[in-house]
Amino acid sequence: MSRNYYVAANWKMHKTRSEAVSLAKELVSALKDGKHKYLIVPGFTLLESVSAVLKGTNIRLGAQNCAFEEQGAHTGEVSVLQLKDLGVQTVILGHSERRHIYHEDNALINKKLRLALSHGFEVILCVGELLEERESGKAETVCETQITEGLKGVSADELKNVVVAYEPVWAIGTGKTATPEDADAIHAYIRKVIEKLFGGAAAQKMIIQYGGSVKPDNAATLMAKENIDGALVGGASLKAESFVPIAKF
Ligand code: 13P
Repeated sequence: MSRNYYVAANWKMHKTRSEAVSLAKELVSALKDGKHKYLIVPGFTLLESVSAVLKGTNIRLGAQNCAFEEQGAHTGEVSVLQLKDLGVQTVILGHSERRHIYHEDNALINKKLRLALSHGFEVILCVGELLEERESGKAETVCETQITEGLKGVSADELKNVVVAYEPVWAIGTGKTATPEDADAIHAYIRKVIEKLFGGAAAQKMIIQYGGSVKPDNAATLMAKENIDGALVGGASLKAESFVPIAKF
């Protein structure tokens, strides 16, 4: 079955407002006739300015995280209500930098995910193993646990707004990419996990992005694989000259 490709730019903790607005404008013009689904995910302080640029275009606006509660005494957190107010449509959750630098566990990620889905957001749930987990043959079980626990309590209807991103931690920002074959094998495994949890039709529809040193020169080979349905791009998304060729692979 054919699935739409979905290419996302995760700007992480980069850019000031003026830099963000100028890159967003470049992308709007370069991708206006693009065939795939697109998303830009700027830092929180950039959302309002980038939102104004993306309004009415074919590029969605995403946030890199959200709080697990709707509102209240949570110093330093950002709520789904505040994100919605800025026109955010998608939230990335469970990114490896949140898991490993900020110690977010599957239970917390699940709370955030359910809250975001209940407010109508699309969620990109990131999963992926550490190098030592890969080397000890645990890549599949790590991803399976992250998916199973991350999606606990999600209904079949809500699952339609979930995208999975497989990002092997050892490939993020390192210039090392999983081989297209290795990535495809884990993507196929993740699809099987979704099938076990939600059935075959849902698994076939699930968009599974690959992330980890995606560049203009490896994007097309990765995307050619049966189970790779797009990319979540970090470093190469910070410049139009490297993101546009990936987005238009
Ligand atoms: P890089 O493309 O810089 O490896 O980052 C991938 C990533 O973490 C996207 O979320």
